[in-house]
Amino acid sequence: MTDQLTVIVLAAGGGTRMKSKTPKVLHRIGGRSMIGHVLGAVDSLEPAQVVTVVGHQRELVGPHVTELRHDAVLAVQDEQLGTGHAVRVALEALGETLGGGTVLIAYGDTPLLEGATLRAFADAHHAAQAAVSILSGIVADPHGYGRIVRDADGGVEAIVEEKDATPEQREITEINSGILAFDAAFLLDCIGRIGNDNAKGEYYLTDAVGIAHADGLTVAAHAVEDALQTEGANDRVQLAELGAELNRRIVTRWMEAGVTVLDPATTWIDADAVLASDVTILPGTQLLGATVVAEDAVIGPDTTLEDCEIGEGARVVRTHGQLAVVGPRANVGPFAYLRPGTLLGADGKIGTFVETKNAQIGEGAKVPHLSYVGDAEIGEGTNIGAGTIFANYDGAAKHRTKVGRFAKTGSNNTFVAPVEIGDGAGTGGGTVVRRDVPPGALAVSGGPQRNLPGWAQSKRAGTAQAEAAAGAGRDEQSQNGRGLGADGPERAES
Ligand code: UD1
Ligand code: MG
Repeated sequence: MTDQLTVIVLAAGGGTRMKSKTPKVLHRIGGRSMIGHVLGAVDSLEPAQVVTVVGHQRELVGPHVTELRHDAVLAVQDEQLGTGHAVRVALEALGETLGGGTVLIAYGDTPLLEGATLRAFADAHHAAQAAVSILSGIVADPHGYGRIVRDADGGVEAIVEEKDATPEQREITEINSGILAFDAAFLLDCIGRIGNDNAKGEYYLTDAVGIAHADGLTVAAHAVEDALQTEGANDRVQLAELGAELNRRIVTRWMEAGVTVLDPATTWIDADAVLASDVTILPGTQLLGATVVAEDAVIGPDTTLEDCEIGEGARVVRTHGQLAVVGPRANVGPFAYLRPGTLLGADGKIGTFVETKNAQIGEGAKVPHLSYVGDAEIGEGTNIGAGTIFANYDGAAKHRTKVGRFAKTGSNNTFVAPVEIGDGAGTGGGTVVRRDVPPGALAVSGGPQRNLPGWAQSKRAGTAQAEAAAGAGRDEQSQNGRGLGADGPERAES
């Protein structure tokens, strides 16, 4: 198809059945609003112009549309007087800029619509040289749809809306999906000829079909093979159904592209996520937003990643991550919480019960257990001991901690930021690091350990604790010939 394409998306309706403060077309499935899916499909046609008709809650719908498509034209329909009126408002907004060619009409609430379907329809419309073409469907239950009425020769004569249909017409199962294609010149000519003398008192865009037929112009109907693509969600039940169907389609597409999905039913992948071949997704996994997963990575079970980037061959187990980058062959989890700004280098590890935020963790560096790493930089090959807290917040401001390369820090440390631990440095167990540790130094804090011998026997006499202590003393006397005295091993070590 070569002629100019203009698309009008109708999104002025109320959507009262959603029972929501959020406008219907802004409800989300698969990581995008419903109208976001429609505009995505429309975009793939590379139309010259896209006009969105907004009305109900346009203060919310309008900005959302312009955010998705900066050159979007918004046409405001203050009162929703029908689809014909909505298109008239769109044409007025376009004015002289509508040069000719084809005008496609779509609705903002059909999230499963695909660009290829619109493309094939526009091409068929063009090939038939029709004044107007209908994307039609044959349905088991045509209730609520406009019925396609054919003349004696089998040509399309009119679309009759549910409320205006005779009992015989209501039996017709060939319906109008809602998506129409117009020759621009015909649309401009007929739009003012559409009246509102009907059961609903609305200006029906579908009356254009009867007008074309009466004018002796060509009307074509092309059946959509995949009827769900033109299905709208009017309430939350339909929204969930379409959401589940969209997810099935996305998951299937990735499996066809070489991704192993153990349990498609509990795997949720947003429309904008990208997966390489030989990725494995284990049950209970959500890959949300613009998450990207490289080859051979294994994600899950029970993992949610939003806008994350996972490197080749990485392993992410029972993890919640947002705006985080995990390097190739790195290991994350189980039970890790990656907050925005987490960057884990190649072969690194963020282990069990570890929370990270705004943290660059170098190649091969490891934070294996029970730690909080916030506002930090950890060098290559460094190991952070279990139970370490990067204390980044002094109650007023956040500060950074820097740990150098190949450092080894002890268990149960607190790093009080701002502070720096040098390359190859170390810290003892339980150290509170308040001052910088030079490269290669070992930091220890707190006084030497003091043991008070016989404390339990004298202060807790008569308790099980004292009895156990006394018993241990006897055992040790018999085994080592030594009791727990002032010269015990603890004293000797300190
Ligand atoms: C419409 C069609 C019907 C078709 C059905 C498919 C007409 C007259 N009827 O009926 O043939 O089978 O869709 O779902 O076109 N809208 C506006 N402004 C308005 C009125 C509607 O923007 O003044 C928008 C709505 O937000 C919605 C779309 O147009 O996205 C369709 O409107 P709706 O009222 O649902 O039309 P139906 O009665 O379902
Ligand atoms: Mg409808």
